[in-house]
Amino acid sequence: MMTVLELRSVSKSYRSDFLFRRMPALTDVTFDVAAGETFAYLGHNGAGKTTTIKSLLGLIRVDAGNIRVFGHAPGTMAAKRRLGYLPENPYFYDHLTAREFLHLAARLNDMNRSDAKHRADQLLALVKMDHKANVRLRNFSKGMLQRVGLAQALIGDPELLVLDEPMGGLDPVGRYEVRRILEELKSRGKTLFMSSHILADVETLADRAAILNGGTLRRLVDLHELGHQERIMDLKFTQLSEAMVGELVRRGYPVERRAEAHHVLVEEHFAMAGLIDELVRSGSRLLRAAPHRVSLEEIFLREVERDVGQTPEDLLHRTVDELVGATSVKEESTP
Ligand SMILES: Nc1ncnc2c1ncn2[C@@H]1O[C@H](COP(=O)(O)OP(=O)(O)OP(=O)(O)O)[C@@H](O)[C@H]1O
Ligand SMILES: [Mg+2]
Repeated sequence: MMTVLELRSVSKSYRSDFLFRRMPALTDVTFDVAAGETFAYLGHNGAGKTTTIKSLLGLIRVDAGNIRVFGHAPGTMAAKRRLGYLPENPYFYDHLTAREFLHLAARLNDMNRSDAKHRADQLLALVKMDHKANVRLRNFSKGMLQRVGLAQALIGDPELLVLDEPMGGLDPVGRYEVRRILEELKSRGKTLFMSSHILADVETLADRAAILNGGTLRRLVDLHELGHQERIMDLKFTQLSEAMVGELVRRGYPVERRAEAHHVLVEEHFAMAGLIDELVRSGSRLLRAAPHRVSLEEIFLREVERDVGQTPEDLLHRTVDELVGATSVKEESTP
């Protein structure tokens, strides 16, 4: 498989406000992105996502390490020709219409007048904005602007798209629409590199994810393998007595109440039969026993909160809360 992006031990620091001190923004970051892959770059605010993106575009120079884009140094013509970029907060000429803006972008990309017109219309159709072609950008919602921004990134028909928070600031409908376009681009064989902190959005889209925390790469996750990695069972009971809930919590089992049922997570399969037996005998009913699917969110929280010093039980409790949150976000985003 051809390697499109290659980062080797990349470090970058910025000068802080205090004289002579430099603050590390990236420390020893190494990963590859293969052709055709959708790669999610995840991290909290200030994790170093934009810094990484700027360095692979050649917009800033790193202090140490090596970056290759299609085998070329970042920022060179050979690298830039094959790459499209959607910035974090794209600034558009808001007095232009969508068609005029894309026409201008195509002209700046060295296309002649008629090719540029053709390309602008083609891309407006691709991002489903052809019905708004003659509307000025200032009248667009954030979601529509983001789609025009994607069209702009696609002007030169790049093989690689670098997207900094493509769903940032969008409502569920806007996110859904952008995600649909990204799915379309993925199915056309484009390589996508996108930063995000909306995990539910990338989970369905990405092939792999990198989790960045404080400038350090904590983990690379293969999303196709997610869910088969860990053996946790989710037991759903009704009529679990308060006394029994207290007892389970005392023994360290994460217990979550949802509607009329209690969910108990059991880490070891061998402990499961005994526990079910005991709870059924105490008068509760087992409604379901299912493998607890490990979500990207759970792994993310585990990686970025490792430093906080929580016990494994705290973490399991915490992630159950987060999982409930993640599910409702997913439902909202599908109109
Ligand atoms: N030009 C700059 N000068 C000084 N410090 C900077 C500069 N750009 C970024 N930083 C610092 O580097 C760190 C990483 O910032 P970066 O913008 O890469 O994070 P990010 O992951 O993109 O965050 P966000 O989710 O907020 O966009 C932060 O601590 C930030 O304050
Ligand atoms: Mg950023």
